[in-house]
Amino acid sequence: MKQIFIRGGVPLNGQVRIQGSKNAALPILAATLLAGGEHEIKNCPKIADVYYMLDLIRTQGAVTYWKGRNLYINTRHLTPGPLEEKKEGTMRSSIFLLGAMLGRFGEVDLEYPGGCVIGDRPVNWHISHLNKMGVFFCDSSERIRAKVSKLIGCEHVLPFPSVGVTENLIMAAVLAEGTTVIKGAAMEPEIVSLCEFLNSAGADISGAGKSDIIIRGVEKLHDGKIILPGDRIVAGTYALACMITGGGVLLEGAPTTQMTRLIPMLHAMGGHTLLTEEGLYLHRREELCAIPYTVTEVYPGFPTDLQSPLMAALCTAKGESTIEERIFGNRFRIAPELKKMGADIFIRENTAHIRGVERLYGATLTAEELRGGAALVIAGLGASGETYIAKCGHIYRGYENICRDLSELGARIYGE
Ligand code: EPZ
Repeated sequence: MKQIFIRGGVPLNGQVRIQGSKNAALPILAATLLAGGEHEIKNCPKIADVYYMLDLIRTQGAVTYWKGRNLYINTRHLTPGPLEEKKEGTMRSSIFLLGAMLGRFGEVDLEYPGGCVIGDRPVNWHISHLNKMGVFFCDSSERIRAKVSKLIGCEHVLPFPSVGVTENLIMAAVLAEGTTVIKGAAMEPEIVSLCEFLNSAGADISGAGKSDIIIRGVEKLHDGKIILPGDRIVAGTYALACMITGGGVLLEGAPTTQMTRLIPMLHAMGGHTLLTEEGLYLHRREELCAIPYTVTEVYPGFPTDLQSPLMAALCTAKGESTIEERIFGNRFRIAPELKKMGADIFIRENTAHIRGVERLYGATLTAEELRGGAALVIAGLGASGETYIAKCGHIYRGYENICRDLSELGARIYGE
């Protein structure tokens, strides 16, 4: 689907199943290359980023198939070769293959992942910390070509708890000689899922989810398996959609224990929640209230991936809200689009000031990237009149079917 039509102004009501976590799935798909075997990944989201990653690992000889929402990957007979990113991919997934390719084959050849609209996406830390483990990188401006005869475990002190760097180091360390310690590691739930999968395949990892992770190298890995948690960003997106429209929803399978920063914010905005085994019940009957100050931080702070959805939801909140973006350099791209709908937003450097307005009006908009596109859908749901959003292909990188899901909650939304 490349475009979405919304007739806004309808409160969301009903229940919807939350898909499996995209950002847990992608590194795990890469990690399957580390072990010859048949791996099982249950509750895997059927999204473009997963399909791109499957294309990449199939070029290395992996055989993959689905049974419903469960994905099976056979990596017994691999044939390593250069990794070519599909141009339309622009998801940079190949960078998550660095550690796994080096761990299994001792070599890797992939395109330099470009930046993207949310900011420069450098890979300097990936390179410098893998270099510490004995990896030799050939100098090239277009591609990353690297070789290592034997990965050697060592201590890493990360300059920043980078999710991707932590994941690549874990994947490089599981079959390395000796022990690797990662100090200042990312603590996102996706790290926990990756380590759970690798330990199920025979790895020896402790401390996942904490800032110090210890990986003791082992000789060999075997079949791994995991049931992916619900996607905390998709759940957060739909929760914020309910906040701007009002109504009451059940987000089935929402990983509420991974949403501990957002849930109190929903209360501050006028929402009421009930956390149950089924997931997250949320309703808003009272006035939508502004949130004076939010800053995006590494986990367990407020996630940068929900920054745009929050901005959209706050446009009609009573009062003034401020959002400071501390993770990426250019993640306020939807502000001009929201202003076309009547939003009152002022951006100064990495801080956005939102003054709540009475209502938003439907408009013709363009999505530029994944989470910004989802945020425009939120704005369209809360606006009066019709909203048309072009270039929605970005949204399907991370949301299985945002139109299907929101229609189940009563939204008047259609995708072409
Ligand atoms: C992961 O990206 C996620 N992607 C992103 O989600 C998420 O926004 C990000 O983590 C932060 O939580 C996946 O998991 C597939 P980082 P990643 O390395 O690993 C800088 C989405 O919408 N940096 O933690 O690339 C970097 O520029 C996506 O689902 C360097 O400077 O993020 C950024 O400012 C968007 N040098 C900061 O670190 C490096 O070598 C955090 O990036 C690596 C990163």
